[in-house]
Amino acid sequence: THIAIIMDGNGRWAKKRGLPRSAGHSAGADTLKKIVTECNNMGIKYITVYAFSTENWKRPDDEVSSIMKLLEDYLRDAKNFKDENIRANFIGDLSPLSDELRSLIKEAEDGSADATGTTVNIALNYGGRDEIVRVAAQLGSLCAYMYLLCFGFIAVLFLLRAYGPGSRLLNVLLSIAVFFILPQAVVYL
Ligand code: FPP
Repeated sequence: THIAIIMDGNGRWAKKRGLPRSAGHSAGADTLKKIVTECNNMGIKYITVYAFSTENWKRPDDEVSSIMKLLEDYLRDAKNFKDENIRANFIGDLSPLSDELRSLIKEAEDGSADATGTTVNIALNYGGRDEIVRVAAQLGSLCAYMYLLCFGFIAVLFLLRAYGPGSRLLNVLLSIAVFFILPQAVVYL
């Protein structure tokens, strides 16, 4: 079983309670920990968490910093992954993240590589459209051609949505399509 989670609604959750948006993100991160533990207890094989998109950099600086801080705290707890037999796997373009975060990510991945419980794919700085370009660049040209041929229909469908009210969903849906339609692509990212 593979469950995909979009970490959305944190801001609305906080607003409803008269709290700052950062409090919503913090509550979201706590909830994620509980979900991952429960999924592992239930024997769910994969969880993919869409945590921070390429678009999220456009948020106010203090909000981006509070999200990065939460990620750091989450990763500092990384030994919990290993203790709970949870495998952590990060996807997306991690290059703009701080050196500190990237080394914590590496530690979490390396430290949990042998875990046999739930694999948690955490998508950071991840955008579906970028992904197609990157995968195509990494596969050979013939593969890339076939990939794009197969993928073209789906991509066009979602790209059309970019002009409609569902535009915010575009990246997310495309990413999910990548996971379901060409799971092996994830290996190359
Ligand atoms: C979207 O909610 C959520 C985010 C942009 C950030 C979510 C990331 C974290 C909470 C960091 C921790 C991550 C991990 C993996 C521990 P929103 O602000 O768009 O909410 P809204 O839709 O109500 O405005």
